[in-house]
Amino acid sequence: MDLETFERLLSPEGAALLAEVHERAGVESDLALGTRLRRSHPVELVAAAVTQNHLRGLARAKLGDDAARLWFTHDALQQATRGSVARLRAERLAASGATAVVDLGCGIGSDLLALARAGLRVRGVELDPVRAAVARANLAALELPGEVLCADATTVIPLDDEVAFLDPARRDGRGRVFDPDLMSPSWDVVTEHLLRGAVVKTMPGLPHELVPDGVEAQWVSDGGDLVEACLWGIGLGSVARRATALPSGAELTGDGTRGVVGPVGPYLHEPDDAVIRSGLVGRLADEVGGWLIDPRIAYVSADHLVQHPMARSFRILEELPFREKQLKAALVGHDVGTLTVKKRGVDVVPEKLVSRLRLKGSRTATIVLTRVEDRATCFLVERA
Ligand SMILES: C[S@@+](CC[C@H](N)C(=O)[O-])C[C@H]1O[C@@H](n2cnc3c(N)ncnc32)[C@H](O)[C@@H]1O
Repeated sequence: MDLETFERLLSPEGAALLAEVHERAGVESDLALGTRLRRSHPVELVAAAVTQNHLRGLARAKLGDDAARLWFTHDALQQATRGSVARLRAERLAASGATAVVDLGCGIGSDLLALARAGLRVRGVELDPVRAAVARANLAALELPGEVLCADATTVIPLDDEVAFLDPARRDGRGRVFDPDLMSPSWDVVTEHLLRGAVVKTMPGLPHELVPDGVEAQWVSDGGDLVEACLWGIGLGSVARRATALPSGAELTGDGTRGVVGPVGPYLHEPDDAVIRSGLVGRLADEVGGWLIDPRIAYVSADHLVQHPMARSFRILEELPFREKQLKAALVGHDVGTLTVKKRGVDVVPEKLVSRLRLKGSRTATIVLTRVEDRATCFLVERA
């Protein structure tokens, strides 16, 4: 979609067309609807309206009810922050006493909207003219104040009262792997801003050694998915590391000190991925009165059951043989037919193991395959 087509989509003609597409999609076939609408509207406008209607449907998972009123491009929607995570950040920033934000690379504005909704004065900067126009239209669609400039963010200096926010794009547009050489704005620009007190969203694979001294690194999961690392620059962070799990908002903080290791007890806790990536498994162990079962494995064991919002807890029923033939015999002995395999630190593909075992019993079971003091070990467990 080019800028001209997007502007036409925003006009009364475009709005009426989009409303018709929304109403008729699923009633008429795409082909019949497209053919009919192209008789009275330009081809590009019909294509843009059909795409927009489709993207609004897709965006619902990320942005909830707002999606029906917002504007998207396909790639920018992929890069947009989930509404729940954008809100978490925006509300924390507003609570810190900040009053204004400049979003340096705002895309279609998911973060920008959350920041404006949290009561901050917002200014978005976006290099791509269509995305800049979309972000502007999105503020208007939600009746939120703010401005969006189409400019190179590396030439924009934050105003005295503005906190800079950056969510750098991957220049190759692919994947979730963290690579500072592929970022735009570059990692050097990001680091300079952090040292002056900015907030930066980045990929969860961020290596800990890239976090500048004095900057807080927060890993966030949402519904069990690890979604991002957020860096809180000098003056904005309060701890070295933080793990946050949405939707509960449960948190763990600490400095990443390794936990104590001990023998396997009757309970096993599987930490949320935000806890694992932030290196706070030792803190989780402290909170549940437990210990690590191996210095390199993110399982926590304990003698007593203490439920924690950032862990799934299991009762260990018995240790089973790790070797496949003996394991199968043990599972057959338990009449297992449906098996869930959890694994950590061992080279096993759970789906392939389940299919090789060909269990036919009547019961369901869960096993944990892991290493304990370098020994491959299997536990039969149940949710506690
Ligand atoms: C990951 S997206 C931002 C997504 C946004 N936070 C959201 O939730 O919708 C990064 C954006 O930065 C923009 N960008 C990259 N380099 C830029 C630069 N030098 N100046 C301005 N924008 C830039 C890209 O075009 C892209 O839209």
